Amino acid sequence: MPTVAEPFVALVVDKSPDGEVSAKVSDLTLADLPAGEVVIEVEYASFNYKDALACQGHPGVVRSLPHVPGIDCAGTVAASDSDDWNVGDSVLVTGYGLGAEQWGGYSQYVRVPADWVVAMPEGLDARRAMAIGTAGFTAAQSVSAIVERNILPDKGPVVVTGATGGVGMWSVAILAKLGYEVTAVSGKSEQAALLRQLGAAEVVGRDAVNDSSDRPLLKSKWAAAVDTVGGVPLATILRSTLHRGCVTACGLVAGADLPLTVHPFILRGVTLAGIDSAKCPRAMRLEMWKHLSTDWKVDLPEECLTEITLSEVSDRVQQIMAGKVVGRTLVLPKK
Ligand SMILES: NC(=O)c1ccc[n+]([C@@H]2O[C@H](COP(=O)([O-])OP(=O)(O)OC[C@H]3O[C@@H](n4cnc5c(N)ncnc54)[C@H](OP(=O)(O)O)[C@@H]3O)[C@@H](O)[C@H]2O)c1
Repeated sequence: MPTVAEPFVALVVDKSPDGEVSAKVSDLTLADLPAGEVVIEVEYASFNYKDALACQGHPGVVRSLPHVPGIDCAGTVAASDSDDWNVGDSVLVTGYGLGAEQWGGYSQYVRVPADWVVAMPEGLDARRAMAIGTAGFTAAQSVSAIVERNILPDKGPVVVTGATGGVGMWSVAILAKLGYEVTAVSGKSEQAALLRQLGAAEVVGRDAVNDSSDRPLLKSKWAAAVDTVGGVPLATILRSTLHRGCVTACGLVAGADLPLTVHPFILRGVTLAGIDSAKCPRAMRLEMWKHLSTDWKVDLPEECLTEITLSEVSDRVQQIMAGKVVGRTLVLPKK
């Protein structure tokens, strides 16, 4: 039976008296953790763009300092005051307030409300679940938004931006598995072979979706799109989407502005579907994990996965902010 071994290590982000924010591996005890019914011994956490912002104390993500980042974790229930969860259960948590409003998964133990916890789906384990993490979960919601609108593979190609990133890679892999013809947009031409291995039919550079002209509509090309970057690329894709197409938007690494007119919506009936994974309702959350562990299940090649320890997170922050990370990063909760 798991027991809670104290003290335990966590990555704590804090501000020094001179105002500098940094992240350090520190000892914590259960008394330091936020309130909640379930204590989970973390086996794996994962690293996402949002975690990089949290590691820098970004006020858009972190409510107050000190803070423990980590928006995803998977492991074993170590203590429970809830009738729904027993010590020894294999579980995962993604989103809600984990690693944002509340201390997160870059810790040997987390304490969370019982209704944040998801039973480990059959066919997955902690490592596979964290290879998916918020990135794969967001990709699944994006694909779901396209399928829901009955845009099936025969309707035409689907474009995915930020294709070597976490959400992008999972989107390429799931869409390809479902039989879509996928065009992957990537700034990393050296990763084209990997994107083809994941199922992309075509790999193009970022310039292919970077039209900053003021033309309200462009030549239509895509039946649907999973956009993970926002800004001009998202506006370009919306203006290039076929009649009744659907474009999902989840990210802003290329910009938060959307330079656009209403023409794609009122002349081509294009849908812009917003994706918000953190506050995804529980019924949909469970449905997405069901897909991810059954009919949409894909194992990313090992070369898409990197394991790091808590001490290595700060270097990874610099790399993801520079858009240099490829695939998914798994975080082991140890020094
Ligand atoms: N709304 C939600 O619920 C939700 C959930 C998860 C993630 N997100 C957001 O989705 C975005 C992607 O997240 P992620 O975890 O997949 O991040 P990530 O692993 O860092 O991937 C982002 C990818 O975008 C591309 N990119 C980076 N900088 C760019 C730029 N300036 N212009 C164009 N492309 C650029 C890069 O891919 P290439 O080099 O291949 O082009 C990079 O790998 C982030 O903005 C994140 O905050 C939102």
